[in-house]
Amino acid sequence: MRSPVPLLDKITYYIVRRKGKQVRPMFVFLSAKLCGTISESSFIAASLVELLHTASLVHDDVVDDSYERRGIFSINALWKNKIAVLVGDFLFSRGMLLALENKQYQLLEIVSNAVKALSEGELLQIEKARRLDIKEDIYFEIIRQKTASLIASACSAGAASSTDDEKVIEKMRLFGEKIGIAFQIRDDLFDFGSEDVGKPLGIDIQEQKMTLPLIFALQQADRAERRKVFNIIKRHNKKPEKVKEVIDFVRNSGGLDYAREAMYRYRKEAFEILHTFSHSETRQSMEDLVTFVTERKR
Ligand code: IPE
Ligand code: IPE
Ligand code: MG
Ligand code: MG
Repeated sequence: MRSPVPLLDKITYYIVRRKGKQVRPMFVFLSAKLCGTISESSFIAASLVELLHTASLVHDDVVDDSYERRGIFSINALWKNKIAVLVGDFLFSRGMLLALENKQYQLLEIVSNAVKALSEGELLQIEKARRLDIKEDIYFEIIRQKTASLIASACSAGAASSTDDEKVIEKMRLFGEKIGIAFQIRDDLFDFGSEDVGKPLGIDIQEQKMTLPLIFALQQADRAERRKVFNIIKRHNKKPEKVKEVIDFVRNSGGLDYAREAMYRYRKEAFEILHTFSHSETRQSMEDLVTFVTERKR
């Protein structure tokens, strides 16, 4: 991530000092080991996936107008949008070049597809934020694209680094997709909580993002209640006390439990795929990682 441009170098240093959970590289390595032997290309895949993830967060905080990331100021909070957009681009290209320099063309194909889906997912989300009456199927389509695609690519790229068997690679992609959906549901649940997760709370409602707990709660509500909530999201979404009202409404309508159930359904489907592999220490570690993803506190 080094660069001769001092400003860029300062910012990448800031990013590297505060690492995230790094779960995607773990998915790469465990997938690789599950399907064969970890190789040099597993390491390249792991680095690449985390670089792209980091780039996507830098851009996502611009898109969401979010000023906190990993417990500290986001790049856009400190250096403004213009610079954050360019830093994100730099990280994206740095990642892609890493694959290219190492002639990892299959890896490049896998992750390019994920980046394409990620951008489409974020844009679909913006498009749908204007229409508040979105249904569950659209929610799942958004999170499959914006989040599950990259975790799916981590698992398939890991598998591709240790086996040529296309069926196995596809199986791992599907496994990662299920995990990715569960991962985003967990993330969307955080937004309704009050625990410190290292990023702002209540921001999804502020950004008019219709996530699963809210979609369910609205479905349960009577007409008057629904109109009241729609009105807040449309016109008073920047007022913390009003956002709090929506959060309480969702909590009281069982929206959080409903979303948690959905998350466990996806986790169960992922475990079923995982159990087509015979028992091993690696399979157990993968299971533990999946459990971590759905039980994590940030
Ligand atoms: C956050 O991802 C973005 C989502 C897809 C919800 P992580 O929770 O993996 O972020 P870090 O890398 O650990 O900070
Ligand atoms: C996932 O969505 C972000 C990406 C796909 C990069 P969110 O907007 O919910 O992620 P956080 O909550 O900001 O980490
Ligand atoms: Mg965000
Ligand atoms: Mg979020």
